[in-house]
Parts: sequence; C-alpha cells; structure tokens
Amino acid sequence: MDFGLHDRHALVLGASQGLGLAAAKALLAEGARVTMSARTLERLLAARDALPAEQRARCFAVAAELGDADAAQQIIAGAQAQGGPVDILLNNTGGPPAGAPSAIKPAEMSEQFDRMVRPVVELTLALVAGMRARGWGRILTIASSGVVQPIPHLPMSNALRSTLVGFMKSLAGEVAGDGVTVNMVLPGRIATARTLSLDSGLAQRTGRALADVAKESAASIPAGRYGTPEEFGAVCAFLASAPASYITGSLIRVDGGAIRSI
Ligand SMILES: NC(=O)c1ccc[n+]([C@@H]2O[C@H](COP(=O)([O-])OP(=O)(O)OC[C@H]3O[C@@H](n4cnc5c(N)ncnc54)[C@H](OP(=O)(O)O)[C@@H]3O)[C@@H](O)[C@H]2O)c1
Repeated sequence: MDFGLHDRHALVLGASQGLGLAAAKALLAEGARVTMSARTLERLLAARDALPAEQRARCFAVAAELGDADAAQQIIAGAQAQGGPVDILLNNTGGPPAGAPSAIKPAEMSEQFDRMVRPVVELTLALVAGMRARGWGRILTIASSGVVQPIPHLPMSNALRSTLVGFMKSLAGEVAGDGVTVNMVLPGRIATARTLSLDSGLAQRTGRALADVAKESAASIPAGRYGTPEEFGAVCAFLASAPASYITGSLIRVDGGAIRSI
C-alpha cells in the first residue's frame, strides 16, 4: 500500500524517545519529512544521527519545553523554517506523575495542564488553519487507554487527557469537510522508558521485585506482553497516511486487548 507521504511534512512532539520517536521513524520510513521536537536537543540529534543517511536528510529537530508560554510559536517557526508547511501534527507530551486520586494537588494539576493540554490545543489550532486552507491535513494525538478505562494510579493522566478527547472530537467534526482528519491513538502498555519508570515506581511502593510487577502486568493483557514502540509507530503512520482519509474523530487503541469494553 502506498501511504502517500512522500510530499508531506510531519511535526512530531515528544520525539526524542519512546512512542514519539517510534512514530517519527515510521513516518520517515514512509518518505515523509519529519521535524522532531522535545526538550533535549542532544537526544533529538542523537536520534537523528542514528537514522539511515537518506532519512537523516529530511529529518529536522527543534528543542522546546512545552510548558513555556511561547513553545508553540517556537516549535512551529523551527519546523516550518526547516521542513515547510506542516501537513501532519502528531501531538505527544510527557506523562504526569502517578498517585492516588485523593492525593492530587490542584496546583500541580494546573502545571501539568500547561504542559500536556494547553500547548497541544495551541499547536493544533495554529496548524489546522493551514491544513484546511490546503485541503489536506492529519492531526493525531497520543493519549492513553486511561481515557476509556481509567487507570487507578494515574488520575491526572485520566483527567487531563480526557480534556483532549473532548477537544479533538469537537474539532474533528468542524474540519472533516476540509480534508483534515483528527484522531487519537491510545497506547495500553508499550515498552518504553515511561512504562519502565511506572513499573519501577509500583515495585518500590509495594516492596516487590520489578520483574514480578512487569510480569503480572503483561499477564493481565490478552496479548500476554507489552507492545513494542514499532507496533505503535506503524499505527500512527497509517493514520497519517492518504489511505486513512475516512477515519476521523476516532480513538484508536493500541493495547493488545487490554481495554475490556467494546
Ligand atoms: N508507553 C506507554 O505504554 C504509554 C501508555 C499510556 C500513555 N502513554 C503516554 O504517552 C506519552 C508518550 O509515552 P512514552 O512512553 O513515549 O513516554 P517517554 O518515554 O517518557 O517520552 C516522552 C517524550 O516527551 C518528551 N517530553 C517530556 N516532557 C516534555 C516537555 N515538558 N516538553 C517537551 N517535551 C517533553 C520527552 O523528551 P525530553 O525529555 O527530551 O523532553 C520524550 O521525547 C506520555 O505522555 C505517556 O504518559 C504511554
């Protein structure tokens, strides 16, 4: 299948490692130009240096802290200067801290909103106008299975990402007639540094071995294992592709069957 991405420019947030990097690599493999963004320029450049030479030439980097007030403008200016107008926006952020729902501190939630929600809305609104004018665009947002089935120890993630679900679903309806699709991709448990850190935290809190925690977690998934970043990235590349033109306003699960409801 031809994904039709050779003339497209994708901006991928949180792209220095994990799910964002996997999505960036999948888009590069399909021929897109890709601007990768995250806070750490060294990590972005190291990820780019590890790519095959042909892909390196159409891979760009912009470092920015999403919590900064001017992050969206900074990222867009850097991406457009290097790769041209943005056709595909892949929203991705760091995850919030874990803890009991009753222990949430409103001030901390507000800070996380400014890193996980506000800049995503700002970037989306700033870029969707050009996509609509050009008659083609893809907006993808990485969230979590927690927006369908709340994860007990990640209440801030469940709550803040659900705000993005409401916003993206609303936007999808407004822009569908202009050739722009808006979807969310929901990872269950994909083997990344974030998953390892959450498992390590749980192991520490419960006094159990990390290997036992990870084994029990994998056993709770119908697929019997964590997903790989490559499996996740491939889904993002397809949703960004030309053939995915009639999928919009959807939440796509990549979870090995972990969410039990239909
Ligand atoms: N992995 C899973 O199974 C899973 C499941 C459900 C939800 N999620 C969520 O999906 C997202 C990606 O997951 P992941 O596993 O790939 O996480 P990860 O390994 O922690 O990667 C997060 C990425 O975001 C960047 N980042 C973090 N904070 C940032 C900030 N304030 N400003 C700009 N960039 C920032 C990081 O790079 P720098 O540190 O260089 O900035 C990194 O590139 C996270 O929100 C995670 O909670 C993941």
